[in-house]
Amino acid sequence: MSATTTAPAGTADEDETRLSRAQSKAVRQRSLRLLGDLMRPHRKGLWLAGVLVVVSTVAQVAGPALIATAIDTTLVRLRDHGEWGPLLMVGGLYVVAAAVAGLSISGYVRTAARVSQGILLDLRRRVFRQTQRLSLEFHESYTSGRIISRQTSDLESLRDLLDSGLTSIVSGVLMMLVTGVSLFLLDWRTGLVLAASLIPALALTRWFQTRSQVYYREQRTASARVIVNFVETMTGIRAVQAFRRERANDVTYGELAEDYRAANARAMGLNGIYSPGLVLIGNVTVAVALLVGGLRVFHGDLDVGVLVAVLLYVKRFFGPIQEIGMFYNSFQSASAALEKISGLLAEEPTVVEPAKPVPLEHARGHVQLRGVEFAYVQGRPVLPRMDLDVPAGQTVALVGATGAGKSTLAKLLARFYDVTAGSLELDGVDVRDLSGHDLRRAVVMVTQEAYLFSGSVRDNIAMGKPGATLEEVQAAAKAVGAHDFIEQLPYGYDTDVNKRGGRVSAGQRQLLSFARAFLADPAVLILDEATSSLDIPGERLVQRGLQTLLADRTALIIAHRLSTVAIADRVLVMEHGVVVEDGSPAELIGGEGRFAALHAAWRDSLV
Ligand SMILES: Nc1ncnc2c1ncn2[C@@H]1O[C@H](COP(=O)(O)OP(=O)(O)OP(=O)(O)O)[C@@H](O)[C@H]1O
Ligand SMILES: [Mg+2]
Repeated sequence: MSATTTAPAGTADEDETRLSRAQSKAVRQRSLRLLGDLMRPHRKGLWLAGVLVVVSTVAQVAGPALIATAIDTTLVRLRDHGEWGPLLMVGGLYVVAAAVAGLSISGYVRTAARVSQGILLDLRRRVFRQTQRLSLEFHESYTSGRIISRQTSDLESLRDLLDSGLTSIVSGVLMMLVTGVSLFLLDWRTGLVLAASLIPALALTRWFQTRSQVYYREQRTASARVIVNFVETMTGIRAVQAFRRERANDVTYGELAEDYRAANARAMGLNGIYSPGLVLIGNVTVAVALLVGGLRVFHGDLDVGVLVAVLLYVKRFFGPIQEIGMFYNSFQSASAALEKISGLLAEEPTVVEPAKPVPLEHARGHVQLRGVEFAYVQGRPVLPRMDLDVPAGQTVALVGATGAGKSTLAKLLARFYDVTAGSLELDGVDVRDLSGHDLRRAVVMVTQEAYLFSGSVRDNIAMGKPGATLEEVQAAAKAVGAHDFIEQLPYGYDTDVNKRGGRVSAGQRQLLSFARAFLADPAVLILDEATSSLDIPGERLVQRGLQTLLADRTALIIAHRLSTVAIADRVLVMEHGVVVEDGSPAELIGGEGRFAALHAAWRDSLV
């Protein structure tokens, strides 16, 4: 693939630690583009924040200069001439400067918060929309743990940067510049002392940055591992408990959490050296400035007021350095996060919407496969070549050994994947030319998992047809034989299926998803092992419902249980991706083939 030499596509190289120079550049540009995109709607807010931060910095820096004036000029005039006016005026100016600084800082913080929260909201929505939009193929390889860490810890580090990091860096850098310049203007000799002190301060900061880069990267990886492990364990909690994996998992998770703790501790330890180190350098500089300045005051070379102002400036100069050092960390982790998020956002669905969809208002359900080939992985075909014609309204049962490719065929039909070669047509239109909307209305697939969302039974059934009335929902439930058990639930149709007491059994869940499909009323219905959890009487009951459900539509039923197959018009037996038998149930049972053997074995097992 060319992805190794040119711009990396999407999430493919997310776990790569070493990227070529061209690749890192491409990744960086991708995240910068995303950042630019996100900031564009907030241009006004950003300008306002910029102006406010300049105003606040100037107002804050004015303080010491005013104090110097007060001490050296106005106090002297008060002492020598008894003039109160100048002192009061300088005092007044000081109060005004303090008020302006306070107000502009408050305005700045609020503007910056509004902008950063707006950006995060936008990004959060984009990530959600994108993950929901991406095809099944993506989700089958990109685990939910990773998606969760994109949505949680990555967005969190961006939030850190935008909320506090950016504020402190902008005001910090500006403050240092203005303070430094003011100091030189006021007294260049102390300016030189300050410049000298910058050497150890910068060396310390450099040391901190190189170390912390490593530690923070470790910290991020460790945190992602903790999340992924946690999500996987909890998703598989049934298997975990069934196989008594708790203790082993405890150990694994404990180790990951310990790694995370250690990484955090290392990063914190670094801060424990850096912060006091800077405070020390700052204090030594103040002491040197005081000593040098004090001697000069003693010799009458320097005014006391200037000395006080100079000391205040020096002290103020060191605050931002620490913030800048810290900023580097949050900048590092935020840019790594942004790289990952921009990769996710750059993913394109493998199943794409057609540019010019062919409208299909009322599908009849004629399904045709012409020379269909399919492989999940290049070079390993699951369906080598398949031709199939299912007339509208036919009920087809698909049987075959596990791994034969039955679900794969179903997923192609529902267009969760696209065929590798050949074409799959619905009413003479290639499914790739149908809009997602038309296709989803025409083809509905019900699987074994029969997923229920949080909410009432009624909401869950009504998903099949948004805006369905209670009567319609009940009619659908009755048609598939779900009405009786729903009535027995604590709150009937209003029972919350994911709350304690409202939980339903696996078979009941399947009945609910039948009702949902019935209400959706598609032209083509696919049931992939969707009857597997029903008991025999349950299945009988459902079989009656099934017959109503299947009437007047094309259906593809995948079932291991042969009793379900009996209601089909046609049976396809699949083996290694190839249809090896094709005929009515009676024909196949009467024949000599695999289905006949399968059926005989099944009948014997019932006796
Ligand atoms: N997402 C996937 N990526 C790669 N290979 C896959 C994927 N899903 C299925 N396969 C492979 O494709 C083949 C057919 O799988 P499929 O799920 O269609 O079988 P099936 O007939 O439905 O089996 P079962 O009766 O067990 O459900 C199997 O060999 C399987 O390993
Ligand atoms: Mg299957």
